[in-house]
Amino acid sequence: MRIVRDVAAVRAAVAGAGRIGLVPTMGAFHEGHLSLIRAARATCDLVVVWLFVNPTQFNDASDLVTYPRDEERDAALAAGCGADLLFAPTVDEVYPAGFATTVTVSGIADVLEGAHRPGHFAGVATVVAKMLNMVRPDVAFFGAKDAQQVAVVRRMVADLDLGVEIEVLPIVREADGLAMSSRNVRLGPEERRRATALHRGLEAARTAVTGGERDAGVLVRTVEDVLAAGAITAEYVAVVDPDSFAPVATITGRTLVALAARVGPVRLIDNLEVAP
Ligand code: PAF
Repeated sequence: MRIVRDVAAVRAAVAGAGRIGLVPTMGAFHEGHLSLIRAARATCDLVVVWLFVNPTQFNDASDLVTYPRDEERDAALAAGCGADLLFAPTVDEVYPAGFATTVTVSGIADVLEGAHRPGHFAGVATVVAKMLNMVRPDVAFFGAKDAQQVAVVRRMVADLDLGVEIEVLPIVREADGLAMSSRNVRLGPEERRRATALHRGLEAARTAVTGGERDAGVLVRTVEDVLAAGAITAEYVAVVDPDSFAPVATITGRTLVALAARVGPVRLIDNLEVAP
């Protein structure tokens, strides 16, 4: 596996390569990232892993400063999963002097994460547009944990005719249900134990739907009660359409229950699809 830092090198490497798979990441790899790289390896001729801690999508400066980084470890893990190229550009390569363009996606990007993290999705959409143009992949692989990010990227790809397939892989969870996240390493032992309430809350909502509950308000309270028992107050618990992220009042079909909560200093998100 080669590590490249600039667009010219990545373009030379992908030229004439057949089906190109791109795995966008900010590093600090866990099994969720590795599942994306393995899926790319299984279906593509050339696998490019993008590793860039994108400053423009952090609305909280301390989150950017404390975001875990270990390129050497990430490179070894990516190589172990069969990646061909690790594209780890510098900030100047992505945002050269004079850079003045922002991609904003209206609607989907304005609610939930968009409302709680102003500017976040403009940063995501801009850097994803940028990486898709730099690498020009046939397919890009995303994880379902960032469900709203997936919906925003899909909307942007369709609206701008970017001509790339978007593959979404399921959330990878720890044995106790906690969704894998690069930020989990910042949880203390007590916080790590309490954080399992996020998944338990979502499972409680799913059990309620299986038991016949259709009222989104009741589902929200069900999740909040489980979080409260774990001494966690949610930033939001929302019941939404999984594609448009429009609020859902009554469960009639595929529906997403999504949440964000701070556990100690760490902000975590999780979601679960439910259906009658
Ligand atoms: O999901 C992530 O890791 C990031 O938001 C992404 C897509 C790599 C853009 O920086």
